Amino acid sequence: MMDKTYSIAIDGPAGAGKSTIARTLAKELSFCYVDTGAIYRTVAYFMDLLGISPKDVDGVNRYIDELTIGIEYDEDGVQHMIMNGMDVTSDIRTPEISQKASQVSAHRVVREVLLDMQRELARQHNVVMDGRDIGTVVLPRADVKIFLTAEPEIRAQRRTQELKDKGEKADYSQILRQIRQRDEQDTHRAIAPLKMAKDSIAVDTTHMSPEEAAAEVRRIVRERTGI
Ligand code: DC
Repeated sequence: MMDKTYSIAIDGPAGAGKSTIARTLAKELSFCYVDTGAIYRTVAYFMDLLGISPKDVDGVNRYIDELTIGIEYDEDGVQHMIMNGMDVTSDIRTPEISQKASQVSAHRVVREVLLDMQRELARQHNVVMDGRDIGTVVLPRADVKIFLTAEPEIRAQRRTQELKDKGEKADYSQILRQIRQRDEQDTHRAIAPLKMAKDSIAVDTTHMSPEEAAAEVRRIVRERTGI
């Protein structure tokens, strides 16, 4: 039995392999996997249903209090997002919501509301948390911080394949364009931009299989924490 609460932060741009690696790691360690992107996606989806543009700061400010976000885990450890009592886990996984989540996440009010929620989860559980600002802002004292990267072309290839595997239409050039656009937005916003924490360890997954990348991260976690 562990006598402290561990937190492992995994940050990086879209398609670097964060969620696959974080989920694998959490399963191996019996930690809770917190996908913070899904929380931003839920905000974007909510605003979208109300017809509020994700760029409309006044609109977002006005309606954010109407949103109650729940996070639940099923028996397989899969994170479900509950928006005002409704399970929206699969609704938030569209390319359109990816873009809108990136835009809505730039607003201060959104980041503040979500910050408390993320910290509370880490207070209560051992977590592997992935996102853009986990090591820098949300959990600056995380036990291990990993910054995952990969070339944009590889990340776009992975996203294209993921969508095709789900039987959805996917256009590589369009996905590459969207990835570059999100990188630009997420890296250049004023509050909590995507950047590597000083004490983070960079792992470039460009030439790694998902298994190799997960093994490398597992090795780093073992080396740093002994668990
Ligand atoms: O990880 P993802 O692709 O599901 O994230 C969707 C968007 O949410 C991402 O483009 C930026 C935002 N996000 C954020 O600003 N901070 C986080 N910790 C996680 C996601």
